[in-house]
Amino acid sequence: MEGSPKLYRELAAWWPLLSAPEDYAEEAEDYRKLILETSDGEARDVLELGSGGGNNASHLKAHFRLTLVDRSPQMLEVSRRLNPECEHVEGDMRSVRLARTFDAVFVHDAIAYMATEDDLRGVFSTAFEHCRAGGVALFVPDHVTETFETAVDHGGHDGPDRALRYLEWTWDPDPNDSTVRMDLTYVFHEPDGSVHTELDEHLCGLFPRATWLRLIEEAGFEVRPVPLVHDERPVGSEGFLATRPG
Ligand SMILES: C[S@@+](CC[C@H](N)C(=O)[O-])C[C@H]1O[C@@H](n2cnc3c(N)ncnc32)[C@H](O)[C@@H]1O
Repeated sequence: MEGSPKLYRELAAWWPLLSAPEDYAEEAEDYRKLILETSDGEARDVLELGSGGGNNASHLKAHFRLTLVDRSPQMLEVSRRLNPECEHVEGDMRSVRLARTFDAVFVHDAIAYMATEDDLRGVFSTAFEHCRAGGVALFVPDHVTETFETAVDHGGHDGPDRALRYLEWTWDPDPNDSTVRMDLTYVFHEPDGSVHTELDEHLCGLFPRATWLRLIEEAGFEVRPVPLVHDERPVGSEGFLATRPG
């Protein structure tokens, strides 16, 4: 958890006010269709790596039996409250081994936190080890180098007794390395009426499309890029849909 953003540690309980489950309905439906259309046979057991607060899972669980892995115990706790019927496992997506296979492995925006090619290799190897022959793996990074642009976003929600708003600024201090920064400022309204702020730096990886394809293939998958367009959230402009040869 060294270097992990505060959002996934001491601020994790605020996650549902930063990113609400209902904002994920449209994209979760796209991921569901891609998984079902691509898998060879029935897709029932799905492993999500970096499942965070479980927002995608809150939609996908109606269609799949989900096992949710995240390295943050605090985020797993948030997800358990939203998705008590799902299995939750604490683990690092680069190295976790559950000693069983799934019909599909899904990695959403959490893969943005892989800052080196070795990190990505670790995730693809984990996905391959947990994917049955003929099964599918879907990787949905926020950006590839070819689609990356400096961006500013804002949002947040009111809860029953407290509220959060945020400003998110994604930028690239050094175009010659494989990382970008996502700086978030949060404004918290506490139940007692007090207001405070936090600055939180997220270090994310940025890799060319060809690197994604090469590393996923090196793990043993067959892979193709798939376009993904969502108005609601500025993530997932492109996904990588992989199959483990049967
Ligand atoms: C943006 S949140 C994911 C939100 C998720 N897509 C959802 O639907 O709620 C990113 C998550 O990635 C997790 N994460 C980052 N690096 C990880 C790693 N190496 N292994 C497992 N989880 C990781 C963080 O703990 C955090 O919960």
